[in-house]
Amino acid sequence: MYQYDQYDHLIVRERIAQYRDQVRRRLADELTEAEFVPLRLQNGLYMQRHAYMLRIAVPYGLLASKQMRMFAHIARKYDRGYGHFTTRQNIQFNWVELEQTPDILTDLASVEMHAIQTSGNCIRNTTSDPYAGVAADEIIDPRPYAEVLRQWSTFHPEFIALPRKFKVAINGAVEDRAAIAIHDIGLTVVRNEAGEIGFKFMAGGGMGRTPIIGSVIRDFLPWQHLLTYTEAVMRVYNQHGRRDNKYKARIKILLKALGVEEFTRQVEAEWVDLKDGPETLTIEEMQRVIDYFQPPAYKQLDDSDVVAAQAGNKAFANWVNRNVKPHKQPGYAAVVLSLKKTGVPPGDATAEQMDFMADLADRYSFGELRVTHEQNVVLADVEQSQLFALWQEAKAHGLATPNIGLLTDMICCPGGDFCSLANAKSLPIAAAISERFDNLDFQHDIGEIELNISGCINACGHHHVGSIGVLGVDKDGSEWYQVSIGGAQGNNAAIGKIIGPSFSALQMPEVIDRLLKVYLRERFEDESFADCAQRLGVAPFKEFVYATPIAEKGGRLVGEDEYV
Ligand code: HEM
Ligand code: SF4
Repeated sequence: MYQYDQYDHLIVRERIAQYRDQVRRRLADELTEAEFVPLRLQNGLYMQRHAYMLRIAVPYGLLASKQMRMFAHIARKYDRGYGHFTTRQNIQFNWVELEQTPDILTDLASVEMHAIQTSGNCIRNTTSDPYAGVAADEIIDPRPYAEVLRQWSTFHPEFIALPRKFKVAINGAVEDRAAIAIHDIGLTVVRNEAGEIGFKFMAGGGMGRTPIIGSVIRDFLPWQHLLTYTEAVMRVYNQHGRRDNKYKARIKILLKALGVEEFTRQVEAEWVDLKDGPETLTIEEMQRVIDYFQPPAYKQLDDSDVVAAQAGNKAFANWVNRNVKPHKQPGYAAVVLSLKKTGVPPGDATAEQMDFMADLADRYSFGELRVTHEQNVVLADVEQSQLFALWQEAKAHGLATPNIGLLTDMICCPGGDFCSLANAKSLPIAAAISERFDNLDFQHDIGEIELNISGCINACGHHHVGSIGVLGVDKDGSEWYQVSIGGAQGNNAAIGKIIGPSFSALQMPEVIDRLLKVYLRERFEDESFADCAQRLGVAPFKEFVYATPIAEKGGRLVGEDEYV
């Protein structure tokens, strides 16, 4: 994995020193809150409903075990004993004290991490495939390119005051596991007919108020031009993106307003001056970065049938089927540790679990972990012969729920329990649905489905691209939930369609149940919920869900008010 050089160390240390002084001045009232806000946001510190929230970047999701242990330390020492992994390969701590934040950043710097550019109108953490480097369907490891982009974009003087935040995702495999189509820039590493490496370049995707799937603006960009072309795109956006209206400021709106052809024409015109200039990548520079991502010292092994070796162990077989993923290297597998146990907010991990995951990484996976955009954690390099032992240990720590890709593996934002922008709570909805559909056999029968929940239109929970999307809305001061179906992420990304009037919190589990009933009734063999919903359209789902009134059972949602 990438290691800081002397410049990285210096930059991060200098930034903390500046910030420490800014916090001191704020506490001494030498800075007003208005003066302090942009300074703290540049260091990932938000003010939320109850407390400050610190967002820390995990570049392309890759973590060393010592970095995971540092998260555990921060959770324990400065927070309430847990942290929240997000959809953009970040972690958020929800209960930090302002005066302690410089110390947290100092602790983080000791393991080569920081919170720079996790907020504000700059280029944010570049995200990638959590199986990068190991996926059986990988064309090229995208991480060195993500790292080059990270180095180039961090503190880029021209792009620190963009019209709006800017998110880049990069994928190097046949299957898109980085949700590239809903990013401002989405890159796919491809080979052309001559075998040369380049990028399929997408731009203008995003969710929020106006969800839009990105457009391909170049089918093949040779790798040498990654930075110059990205710079051309950024310049067009920086110059013409709307700064007069926050809601129309993202690149997706510009691209839509201009049309793909005109947008591309402007980018290409801008590129004329940049192409082959000093930012052109050389083989030497690329190789220097690629060297950081060399594969670990794999043993020469053969693939083994781990399920057959544990004949009759249904629980283990279930876990292998759901949580174990194929690996390039014979005899190895990638393992997803589920952070979606019923009764726990999706993406949350306790300090104890973080320490434990770090231990597992050291013992089973060359000391590395990955954060997924579905809010789980991956051990990428596990020997197949060790899977049974690993499963038993993970199970004992609540990290082996065999639900990856299933209904309860839902994405959910922090919503009204923490977030000051929320229109409604989202965690209690997730908890109530998990509780209702806890039955794993039923979940396995339903098969792969993405249930995504956001507490407001900002779409942090990716509701637009959920097979079922739930969006919290405010109606006359009370909390309601709007449901959409047929969204999808990945290669066939699509925005879901709203089925009709919104529901109360207490109706939500029954709404999901009714949607599933229609799906189970209508599906073709092996047809996913998203495909089925896209084929049938909203009508049959709508008809059944609204056919009879839904009682508000129970009076109180599971988990309600438990997160504050
Ligand atoms: C409580 C802390 C949070 C705050 C204040 C916050 C704030 C925001 C805001 C203002 C937007 C809309 C920006 C725009 O589209 O113009 C947004 C979008 C988004 N946020 Fe958050 N967020 C928070 C937590 C999270 C969490 C926990 C996740 C992951 C689970 C997340 C992931 C995202 C994603 C994926 C988007 C979609 C934007 C897009 O690219 O179209 N955020 N957030
Ligand atoms: S979707 Fe809304 S409520 Fe949820 S975290 Fe994002 S900004 Fe907050």
